[in-house]
Amino acid sequence: MAGKSPLINLNNGVKMPALGLGVFAASAEETASAIASAISSGYRLIDTARSYNNEAQVGEGIRNSGVDRAEMFVTTKLFNGDYGYERALRAFDESLGRLGLDYVDLYLLHWPTKDWNATIQSWKAAEKILGDGRARAIGVCNFLEDQLDELIAASDVVPAVNQIELHPYFAQKPLLAKNRALGIVTEAWSPIGGAINDGDGDNHGGRKHPLTDPVITTIAEAHGRSAAQVILRWHFQNDVVAIPKSVNPERIAKNIDVFDFALSDAEMAQLDELDTGVRIGPDPRDVDTSSFAEFV
Ligand SMILES: NC(=O)c1ccc[n+]([C@@H]2O[C@H](COP(=O)([O-])OP(=O)(O)OC[C@H]3O[C@@H](n4cnc5c(N)ncnc54)[C@H](OP(=O)(O)O)[C@@H]3O)[C@@H](O)[C@H]2O)c1
Repeated sequence: MAGKSPLINLNNGVKMPALGLGVFAASAEETASAIASAISSGYRLIDTARSYNNEAQVGEGIRNSGVDRAEMFVTTKLFNGDYGYERALRAFDESLGRLGLDYVDLYLLHWPTKDWNATIQSWKAAEKILGDGRARAIGVCNFLEDQLDELIAASDVVPAVNQIELHPYFAQKPLLAKNRALGIVTEAWSPIGGAINDGDGDNHGGRKHPLTDPVITTIAEAHGRSAAQVILRWHFQNDVVAIPKSVNPERIAKNIDVFDFALSDAEMAQLDELDTGVRIGPDPRDVDTSSFAEFV
């Protein structure tokens, strides 16, 4: 079957699916079957990273799918521990080797780091990779407004994408506006709130998880959809690319089935009002090149 997601334009003319599959915390075995389910459900964008330890299974899943490589949009990311010009070039080669691909569609710096010179040198390596045609687009993750300005001032290529923590409880409207003003596409990680530890059902400042938030479940009931579908539709109507992670075939299929209904302006506003301004993931100012050395 053909890809199910609409495509959006990046600042260099490359087209990217508006919705894809994330594979953070998916084991090697889970990744292979999740990729198969996703591709047969119409996904064409897969988001992995060096630190997820499943690049090989992503590549294998794509090769086994029977879908043309050119139809797929593969993203991977530079691990913080590999920052620096030469190290980043080497790390990219190794990622391509594990993926078994000769190019990726999008290569991202995984975090801005306190070692700013290493961050800039890594971006220069990404520019070289782009220039060599081994990545069709390059971008960043987790960059704040001033970090974007400083990166752009020190380099030649404006990032195509800024992938950030973004869900109804952390909507990041100012950063969204900044990205848009710079011509950078915003991509949401933890788009349905996966980063929130919902073990006790009462977290994140006393709120429940977005998937069980009554505001969202009420809208979902009105449309005959799941809470996840409503949230993913909210991202789409905000021009945000979303990469929900799932290893469950039914959820994988339902998560991309969001392009045949629309939320009203009032419903979009209700979702916007859920923002707490509180991030769950690390603060992008606190990360250095030794962070996440254990590949969590
Ligand atoms: N750049 C970065 O720094 C960064 C950081 C974190 C994540 N990411 C990327 O963003 C992707 C998504 O983020 P995430 O994995 O943290 O969170 P997420 O996609 O918001 O949520 C994933 C969680 O929700 C469950 N789930 C998926 N669909 C569901 C549905 N329809 N109903 C109920 N539960 C559902 C999944 O379980 P099942 O698998 O059992 O369905 C999983 O526990 C990652 O996989 C990764 O690719 C990037």
